[in-house]
Amino acid sequence: MLDPEEIRKDFPVLNRIINNRRLVYFDNAATTHKPVQVIKAIEEFYTKHNANIHRGLHTLSQEASQMYEEAHEVIAKFINARSWREVIFVSNTTEAINTVAYGWALWNLREGDEIIVTIMDHHSNMLPWRLIAQLKNARVKYVDVTDEGYLKYEQLEELITERTRIVAFPIASNVLGTINESRRIAKLAHEVGAIVVADGAQSVPHIPTNVRELEVDFLAFSGHKMLGPTGIGVLWGREDILEEMKPFKVGGDTIKDVTLDNVVWHDLPWRFEAGTPNIAGGIGLAEAVKYLVKIGMENVREHEISLTEYTLKRFEELAGDLEYYGPRKATDKTAVIAFNIKGLNHHTVGMALDLFGIAVRTGMHCAHPLHYRLGLTGSVRASYYIYNTHEEIDYFIEALEKIIEMKDVLSKEKPSTVCTGT
Ligand code: ALA
Repeated sequence: MLDPEEIRKDFPVLNRIINNRRLVYFDNAATTHKPVQVIKAIEEFYTKHNANIHRGLHTLSQEASQMYEEAHEVIAKFINARSWREVIFVSNTTEAINTVAYGWALWNLREGDEIIVTIMDHHSNMLPWRLIAQLKNARVKYVDVTDEGYLKYEQLEELITERTRIVAFPIASNVLGTINESRRIAKLAHEVGAIVVADGAQSVPHIPTNVRELEVDFLAFSGHKMLGPTGIGVLWGREDILEEMKPFKVGGDTIKDVTLDNVVWHDLPWRFEAGTPNIAGGIGLAEAVKYLVKIGMENVREHEISLTEYTLKRFEELAGDLEYYGPRKATDKTAVIAFNIKGLNHHTVGMALDLFGIAVRTGMHCAHPLHYRLGLTGSVRASYYIYNTHEEIDYFIEALEKIIEMKDVLSKEKPSTVCTGT
């Protein structure tokens, strides 16, 4: 079991006082904080090694190139990729998925082909497919969820046809927390020759990840949701598919040679990392991964199950006033809990929690179709990570009780218009 109190010492931001209370940071599905080790690795890169990669024979450039390449290796090992060449650094999950949409789908889809996504997908694994479908006269079909927030696998079986070319899904939902059955989905997709694109943004930071066991063809995730910096993310793809895929963005470092008549593309992964990449970001992400490896991803998962179980148990005390969405079983989900206080706008609850120093996300969490499917205009989302504690959850429940007590007054409040809460 990990010790959150020890871990907290590496995160100075957690000592911040917000509205006269010690910060309780429950917005980890949006972004996590960064340990001093990651901050120092980035500082050290800029203070000692900064240079562009693959563009100079001088010592600093050689050092920077080596550090950046090693960062790919660290990620490859973390997700058990067969080769570091399967690891492409991109800016975030959204860019990773767009890379597949414009590198693979744009060139391979034909009119009448079908793409399947789930209603619980984040917009980043839904909108790229919708645009591509429009461009290629293809069709997007949606898998629904049950009222408890599980994917309807029987419906998926019906939706998949010989025309299905792509099946996209989140390994874990960013609203419901539901962990989907990756191998079951991949098997159905592969039976008809479709490729499988998994959004791992909400799973890779929280659950041990083995891309060989997931059996998907692509996995996208973001560094900033797993202790790394913003502006760095990963597209992992099966090497044989990547070899056939076209680059989405082209330019510097994507080629071996260019004449006016011909281009010889670079080896993997450089073919897909156009222009000067986020070198410090890649190095920072590798440091974040080393930090997680030291804790052990099994321990991360165990801690988060414990926090989730405890929250759902404490929520029972508020049952008349609070409803939450997604699986009731903590082992079926990640530590993401979306809820509403009956009779109160989600933004009002979020702002009231901020007065207690508690940071949560409110709105539709970039998952509008899912919220509409659940009949909601939004929700409040608490999401945990390695530095969160059971004591913080007790304080959170106390704050919710006080908010519920003040419901009559708060329901007259107009939520801030500054908070667009998408
Ligand atoms: N995709 C992130 C979230 O769900 C920002 O909050």
